[in-house]
Amino acid sequence: MATRKKIGLIGAGNIGGELARLCAADELGDVWLYDIPQKENFAKGKALDLEQNSAVIGYDSNIRGTANWADLEGADVIIVTAGIPRKPGQSRDDLVATNLPIIRDVANNAKKYCPNALAIVISNPLDAMVYEYKRVTGCPKEKVIGMAGVLDSARFQLFLAREAGVSIKDVRAMVLGGHGDDMVPILSACTINAVPIQNFIAKEKLAAIIDRTRKGGGEIVNLMGTSAYYAPASSAVAMAKAYLNDQKRLLACAAYLDGEYGYKDLFIGVPCVIGGKGVEKIVELPLSEEEKAMLKKSAASVQAVVDVVKKG
Ligand code: APR
Repeated sequence: MATRKKIGLIGAGNIGGELARLCAADELGDVWLYDIPQKENFAKGKALDLEQNSAVIGYDSNIRGTANWADLEGADVIIVTAGIPRKPGQSRDDLVATNLPIIRDVANNAKKYCPNALAIVISNPLDAMVYEYKRVTGCPKEKVIGMAGVLDSARFQLFLAREAGVSIKDVRAMVLGGHGDDMVPILSACTINAVPIQNFIAKEKLAAIIDRTRKGGGEIVNLMGTSAYYAPASSAVAMAKAYLNDQKRLLACAAYLDGEYGYKDLFIGVPCVIGGKGVEKIVELPLSEEEKAMLKKSAASVQAVVDVVKKG
């Protein structure tokens, strides 16, 4: 008899709670919401609230809170949000000093208790944190991915849909590169249901939309005083679901590059086929010269943060 999948959520804060709600409501598996001992009761309370919600909504997933890594033993997927989020005025890179020891702690425990899990890292600065997670755990590159591209693409798609006056469902767009201010929206592959975006939106308007997308996370931090959590959680769940259900979805994810796009030993956002083996394929798009230059700049920014991490 098949058993339920086990999903470990490392960090029971804003994103962790929304992740738990989505995973349970979609019956992706049983959910363990882990946080540090000082937040154990908080994690347990959130889990209990979400389990009681199952009686109203109607789902069979179990949700438990814990501060004991042994409860994560044998998890199929872990999604890592451990760390502190941004405050107004901070860049993602400003979080390195605080979040680096946290990601190391998480990676050391994951290596011990759930080395075979697919790991989806959300903690910022994303591309450097997922790099460090892979370095510490030694997990194969197929099984470690960073969540940023799905979210950045979603932000881009929303702004495009609003400007073009079309349904969000028909917008196809991808944002690649690092999860920072020089991320790379791929205009050459951007369409409204196969019709090139340039047929709908003038050049200057597109430039303004790209600018807003790049600062999309910061816009929300300035409004709320903390980071976004609904769309980040949905984005990671889309990735987890693609893996658990072997969907073979083509999603922009931070993946470990070993020569693809001309980069080595670096995580940046690229189009990935996500299926039951994890990152099953990295798709190399024919980029315009301008896009290649933007990707180079973005990769250099990520490399600079990774260099700091390597020294730390
Ligand atoms: N292990 C597990 N959890 C930890 C650890 C640790 N070593 N250290 C801190 N945490 C927990 C905190 O106790 C907190 O409950 O991580 C949780 C983070 O939750 P929030 O502060 O609500 O932050 P959130 O908005 O969920 O964002 C988390 O994702 O998008 C990124 O920049 C964001 O790095 C941040 C992360």
